[in-house]
Amino acid sequence: MNEKTSTAGPKLGLARAGFSSGFGVLAATLGSAVGLGNIWKFPYLTGANGGAGFLLVYVLATLLVGLPVMMAEISLGRAAKANPISTLQALAPKRQPWWLIGVAGMLAAFLILSFYSEVVAWVFAYVFKAMRGSILSSDPQVTEAAFNALISDPLQSLLWQWGVLVFIGGILLLGVTKGIEAMTKKLMPILFLLLLLLCAVSLSLDKALQGLAFLFQPDFSKITASVVLTAMGLAFFKLSIGMGTMMTYGSYFRDDQNIPLTTVRVMSADLCISMLAGIAIFPAVFTFGFAPAAGPALVFITIPAVFSQIPMGQWLMVVFFVLAAIAATGAMLSLMEVPVVILHERLGLSRPKATLLTIGLLVVLGASCALSNSALADFKLFGMSMFDLFDFVSSNIILPAGGIFIALFVGWVWGVDKFSRSLTNHGQLHNQKLAQAVFFLLRYVSPALILVVMLKGLKFF
Ligand code: PHE
Repeated sequence: MNEKTSTAGPKLGLARAGFSSGFGVLAATLGSAVGLGNIWKFPYLTGANGGAGFLLVYVLATLLVGLPVMMAEISLGRAAKANPISTLQALAPKRQPWWLIGVAGMLAAFLILSFYSEVVAWVFAYVFKAMRGSILSSDPQVTEAAFNALISDPLQSLLWQWGVLVFIGGILLLGVTKGIEAMTKKLMPILFLLLLLLCAVSLSLDKALQGLAFLFQPDFSKITASVVLTAMGLAFFKLSIGMGTMMTYGSYFRDDQNIPLTTVRVMSADLCISMLAGIAIFPAVFTFGFAPAAGPALVFITIPAVFSQIPMGQWLMVVFFVLAAIAATGAMLSLMEVPVVILHERLGLSRPKATLLTIGLLVVLGASCALSNSALADFKLFGMSMFDLFDFVSSNIILPAGGIFIALFVGWVWGVDKFSRSLTNHGQLHNQKLAQAVFFLLRYVSPALILVVMLKGLKFF
């Protein structure tokens, strides 16, 4: 192994790989943040919750809660240079069970991966279907039938999901530097270019303005407590925070990396990509007289029907699904890295064994989501399929709760001195004032805000 190694935290004594360059750090971290959250969740949630009003709440949640928690997580990871469980064990006073945040994070990773890998499976399948032209029809009933045929076929659903898990596992086997970093460095610029191309096409259509108005003109009457919770949950999901992903990536950050600058860049680029996805989708949807559908339907039923009416639509559709596949790859890598590094460092398994075990567990747990439109269609818990339940529980409960505890840990246990040393790289950067402001948010504002939004959104009061 000639990966760039850095010394591990004192508690572990393992030589660990890390991200080797500034651009590599940015690409990998942005690669984690950008995913189907931008291309699939953000557009349909914005569409279903009234457009611009939702967007505004989402941006507020990102600034007041998302950014501080992201800086906290990365700082903790870099300080301990270990997986989330060992990180919290190493940084907390003895016998305080903060490491449970890492355990909850691993659970969240498995829940998210179970449904996420299935949506990625559809995306990969759609790349091929778009190339073959088999989903090319301007009649949404036809595209709906095509989508239903795919998701209600248990064998196809499972095989595509396994294919995705093996593909991502294969990249992880190459390691942090040569796998995650090298891959995301290549993919992120391509993603950006493809997205710009689609935006240009969509903006050239007749009713582009109507689509833009939908995205940017707020309708506040639609904003209820549960919509605010959804927006905050989306902010957590989007920025990959509250479950140890950013802590894990933080542990691969170089010591000279400017953490506040990197997080602000990642957050802005991620927001920008979500908006561009909205700009690529809504003008086209309105031009051809569709309503912005919710759930998977927007991307897998409306989009094919819309693109089929545009010149060169088939190839633009290929571009769209390749783009989604690229976005999903970076996010999946970071999701799977959490259990892999925990199993590797905590149980002493080799990385290949830890990866295989993770894939094996996901084959079992993921099947409950892959089959939720076929063999398990009637199996519901709390009135939801496993697919919807895992999505709801992770985004609206585990990630925000994880965010509360991470904020409380930094705000009340780790303390302002260590946090500020981390954001200033031991005084070398002039981030002192910023560190104090972020610390204030972490100590008081973010945890209180998350708690109120969670309790109100879940109808506790
Ligand atoms: N942020 C990713 C997305 O937008 C999803 C994700 C969530 C990745 C949590 C890692 C951890 O698709």
